Amino acid sequence: MNLKGRSLNNLFDLNIDEFNYILNLAHQVKKEKKSNIFPKRLQNKNIALIFEKPSTRTRCSFIVAAHDEGAHAESLSGRDIHLGEKESIEDTARVLGRLFDGIMFRGFKHKTLEMLINYANVPVWNALTDIHHPTQAIADIMTCQEYLGKLNGKKIVYLGNGNNNVTHSLLIASSIMGMEIVISCPERYYPDQSIVQQCIKLSKNSKAKISILNNPIEAVKNADCIYTDVWISMGEEKNSNNEEKCKELLPYQVNKKIMSATKNSECFVLHCLPAYKNLEITSDIFEENNKFIFDLAENRMHSIKAVMLATLIN
Ligand code: CP
Ligand code: NVA
Repeated sequence: MNLKGRSLNNLFDLNIDEFNYILNLAHQVKKEKKSNIFPKRLQNKNIALIFEKPSTRTRCSFIVAAHDEGAHAESLSGRDIHLGEKESIEDTARVLGRLFDGIMFRGFKHKTLEMLINYANVPVWNALTDIHHPTQAIADIMTCQEYLGKLNGKKIVYLGNGNNNVTHSLLIASSIMGMEIVISCPERYYPDQSIVQQCIKLSKNSKAKISILNNPIEAVKNADCIYTDVWISMGEEKNSNNEEKCKELLPYQVNKKIMSATKNSECFVLHCLPAYKNLEITSDIFEENNKFIFDLAENRMHSIKAVMLATLIN
């Protein structure tokens, strides 16, 4: 498999073999690190990390992964560079592409990411835009594999705001992997329809089952994993309808009632973090599942390391 030079725009970029290649590499580098093996495969590489939005996990994962592999990572906030203000995004991309071997972008408009990809001439990795969060979903699937083994036919249920970056990427990832994915939310928070349609196409080959249900109790029946994310995403904090949105999403809160409706005592909960306790998830369910949730947080680093290795070297 040769992904050298490839960018990660969203998970539609990857076919099943490429996705499995990155996942296997992620499991491998995790084992290496646990055994204190540091092959330094990215020595002398320089990585730019551009942030228009804050980040704890993704930022630290890129920094630690780069350091483990002998590369240097430089964080650049929107205030540090001229991105799209004094200097066009195209010119910024061309300058950074001359200096760095890879560019990570976390920001608002997906279009900005696509312009960086089109002009940088080095791999550009999407570290979250308003529409997609692909490196999150790679870690989500990696963590599910650790707990569920083969994922064909395993049921993952996403509860909450169905129209956000994490949901979209989880939906695509589950569709590629042939899982049963159920998204449960009110109609007005349904995922983007064009993403759903593309996932339905993918499911014809992968045998994934995709459904979107309003009723959370019905949705979670026999779930192997329940997933949730914040109801108000970065950049939405000042929206005027947030109070109403939280009221509408309350029936989709991951709580005791939801967990018992799974009828599966083995069902575990994942959250991409950061979490607002007692909104999308109650504190007790969060703590009961903290092992899974923080395994996922750790796996962000291993899987991001795999993405960088796969796209920067052969
Ligand atoms: N899950 C995630 O992307 O976390 P950060 O916003 O802290 O990077
Ligand atoms: N949907 C959330 C994910 C945070 C990792 C956001 O965009 O803020």
